[in-house]
Amino acid sequence: MLKISIILGTRPEIIKMSPIIKKLECLRLNYFILHTGQHYSYNMNKVFFDQLKLPEPSYNLGIRSGTQAEEVGKMLMGVETILQKESAEIVLVEGDTNSVLAGALAAAKLGIKVGHVEAGLRSYDKEMPEEINRVLTDHLSDYLFAPTENSRQNLLKEGIDEEKIVVTGNTIVDAVYQNSKLSEGNNVLEELGLEEDDYFLVTIHRQENVDNKERFHGILKGLESIGEEFEKPVIYPIHPRSRKMLNELSINVSGIRFMNPFDYLSFLHLESRAKVILTDSGGIQEDACILGVPCVTLRDNTERPETLEIGANVLAGTSSVEIVEKVRSILNKKHDWKHPFGDGKAAMRIVNELKHRFS
Ligand code: UD1
Ligand code: UDP
Repeated sequence: MLKISIILGTRPEIIKMSPIIKKLECLRLNYFILHTGQHYSYNMNKVFFDQLKLPEPSYNLGIRSGTQAEEVGKMLMGVETILQKESAEIVLVEGDTNSVLAGALAAAKLGIKVGHVEAGLRSYDKEMPEEINRVLTDHLSDYLFAPTENSRQNLLKEGIDEEKIVVTGNTIVDAVYQNSKLSEGNNVLEELGLEEDDYFLVTIHRQENVDNKERFHGILKGLESIGEEFEKPVIYPIHPRSRKMLNELSINVSGIRFMNPFDYLSFLHLESRAKVILTDSGGIQEDACILGVPCVTLRDNTERPETLEIGANVLAGTSSVEIVEKVRSILNKKHDWKHPFGDGKAAMRIVNELKHRFS
């Protein structure tokens, strides 16, 4: 019987793989989860397994954090050992993290087929470690599950065989649709004393933003200014990487409510009722677009250009003046786009495709 190894390591991979894991469970297919341990804090990892009711990983390599090379190098060795023991036919990875690259590379070198979920995204910015991971993983993969036609075109431009590519939609849509109802009754707004449509929700964690003091400073000043101008709370659940930098940065900002990262259902509830979402996260640009909430992206580029084209998202970079202007401008636009990320059946398409190709 076909054996699939799901390799994951970080918060967004757990969330975006969850619809696929559920489908594999439902069809009683033979699979196991290999966790690299890249994310390990309870609120970056286990809370999602618990809340999304996912089975425990069969293996956790416990790699944790390090330099880019340390993370990928240690993961490569760990993944290779497990894959040799388990003799899986397919390794499935999702997204663009170091865990994804290590999983795909270890598998490809062992001659195991690689399926890349969310293939073909490009920022064309090699300063992002994620862009390097995306490009390499796509070129190592045998099955490329592109979320949109735009991502399929990116792959074709790089000479990837069209037979290998299937446009499936993004599994984040499946995850949002599957969990939106469950998040409805969440009481996070009452707990935080917030009113619907009356706060800004912020996340920032990109290495090129938070590890660069000037950029991080510009963003924080921009957030302070929008809080003052619009007289609304600015809610910032802070990623551990950013928390570390903020502690070192000793800058004086007021009006931003820093808090710990949220569980998935609370976060979905907060996202769907925010006035505007400001973020440098990839997944949260998609969430905002799917939920119909305007998004201001705190970066100079995005690998999700579809969100810009339909007017759901604008790029603001990291200058405080630009951030305020972009919030003003997106608030003056209509919010009536139709999101381009699929119908919530991406996981079904991906699993069916794998079954079909292996039958
Ligand atoms: C990683 C991914 C990024 C993804 C993000 C999702 C890479 C190159 N980056 O970035 O693409 O958007 O995950 O959130 O793979 N830390 C903790 N607890 C944790 C995890 C991290 O305290 O559970 C802290 C550690 O101090 C660590 C820092 O966060 O040094 C960065 O962690 P790391 O996994 O290296 O990168 P992320 O910024 O999380
Ligand atoms: N998320 C969450 N709690 C939070 C912040 C984010 O559950 O406090 C979820 C969010 O809904 C999205 C995913 O985490 O599905 C995005 O992960 P992240 O921003 O860490 O990574 P990226 O998408 O940038 O790789």
